[in-house]
Amino acid sequence: MNMNTPDLVPIFPSLLAFDFARLAEQVAVLDGAGAAGFHFDLMDGQFVPNLSFGPMLLKALRATTALPFWAHLMVYTPEAYIDQLAKACAARVYIHPESTPHIHRVLTQVRMAGMEVGVVINPGTAMVTLEPLLEMVDGVLLMSVNPGFGGQPFIPATLGRLRQLGEMMARQGVSPSVECDGGVDATTLPALLDAGMTGAVVGSALFTGGDPARALQALARTAVR
Ligand code: DX5
Ligand code: ZN
Repeated sequence: MNMNTPDLVPIFPSLLAFDFARLAEQVAVLDGAGAAGFHFDLMDGQFVPNLSFGPMLLKALRATTALPFWAHLMVYTPEAYIDQLAKACAARVYIHPESTPHIHRVLTQVRMAGMEVGVVINPGTAMVTLEPLLEMVDGVLLMSVNPGFGGQPFIPATLGRLRQLGEMMARQGVSPSVECDGGVDATTLPALLDAGMTGAVVGSALFTGGDPARALQALARTAVR
C-alpha cells in the first residue's frame, strides 16, 4: 500500500436516508464523492415493521450511475423478488436466513439469476447460522441494528460478532466481503474496521451534517488501526 494514498473504506450509502424527492440528484452527488455502490433496503411491512420500496426503484435509478446497486431484502418469500431484481440490474442481493425456511435454495436462486450472493443476519441470530452458507456467498452483511428503520443506535455486540465471523472464515478458508448495516458513523467506524469489517452501509450519518459528499469522504478516509 502506498502510504500517501491509503486505501479508502468502501462506503455504500443507504437510499433509505435520502430525500425521496431528490433521489437521482443525491445518487449523483454521492457517486461523485466516491461511494462504492448504493444500498437499497426493500421492506414488506411483515418481516420488518416498515414499508419502503421495491425493485422498481432500482430500475428507475439504474441509468443515473454506473456504480453497483446492492439490494437488502427485508421481506418474507424473498424468492418472489429475485427475477425482478435481476431485470432491474441489481449487482448483489442480500437475503436474511430469518426470512425463509430455504435459505440455501434462495441463495442458489440469486446465483442462478446472475447476481452476486449475499447473506445478512439480524443482531439476535446465532453466528453459527452462517457456517453452512459462507462457502456460497460473495458477501456477509451483519446487522448492527434491528432492521426496519434508519437512524437507530449501533449495537456494540456487533464487534464481537465480527471477530467470530473472521474466525469462521479463516477456518473455512473463504474471504467474502464483510459489511455492517446500521448505526455506522465516525464514532463506530474505526472499531468496526479493527474487528474485520471490509465495507460499510451508511444512512443517516451521511446527512446529519448537511453535506453528504463531505461526510462520505471523511468516513471513507478512516484509517484501519
Ligand atoms: C435498516 C437498514 C439500513 C439503514 C441504515 O433496516 O437496513 O440500511 O438504512 O441506516 P443508518 O445508517 O441510519 O443506521
Ligand atoms: Zn440495509
